[in-house]
Amino acid sequence: MRPLDKHDWYELCVQSPGHLVPLVRAIHGGAARVLGEDFCGTAALSIEWARAGGEAIAVDLDVGALAKHPDAPGVRKVRADVREVADAADVVSAGPPIGYLHTRRALVGICDTCARLAVGGVHLRRHLRRRESAFATGTVHRPHHPGSR
Ligand SMILES: C[S@@+](CC[C@H](N)C(=O)[O-])C[C@H]1O[C@@H](n2cnc3c(N)ncnc32)[C@H](O)[C@@H]1O
Repeated sequence: MRPLDKHDWYELCVQSPGHLVPLVRAIHGGAARVLGEDFCGTAALSIEWARAGGEAIAVDLDVGALAKHPDAPGVRKVRADVREVADAADVVSAGPPIGYLHTRRALVGICDTCARLAVGGVHLRRHLRRRESAFATGTVHRPHHPGSR
């Protein structure tokens, strides 16, 4: 068995696309076909969404994360800043990452992705609905150890 890499660990610890796809569909409430997955990392949600019959546009800056899984039918991976992607979607699921967007203005600015939405579309910002600490300003110090994966 091959050793797990950091993307495997992230998916195992943080994500559950099999649960998230029906949740996103239920929140949308309509016949959502095209998912925009902003800050997609390995695009695990997009892959599951397409497996369930939809189409997905998976956007991330990190080419290594995007390359984690082989290309999948129905998933278009885009290596870009999410703020520069205008492709229309029925639902946009964004997990804005802590530590990448350094100001409130930048964080709130990603709401501009709403312009991508089809009429009746839904924009989900996952970190902002997690808990009350999402509304507190402050700093995060996250040490990274050289050589760790
Ligand atoms: C913590 S991961 C989120 C993975 C997944 N979406 C989730 O919520 O579990 C954060 C990702 O955001 C990406 N990222 C950070 N800033 C970005 C930006 N401006 N545009 C696109 N991707 C960005 C990073 O490359 C990283 O893969």
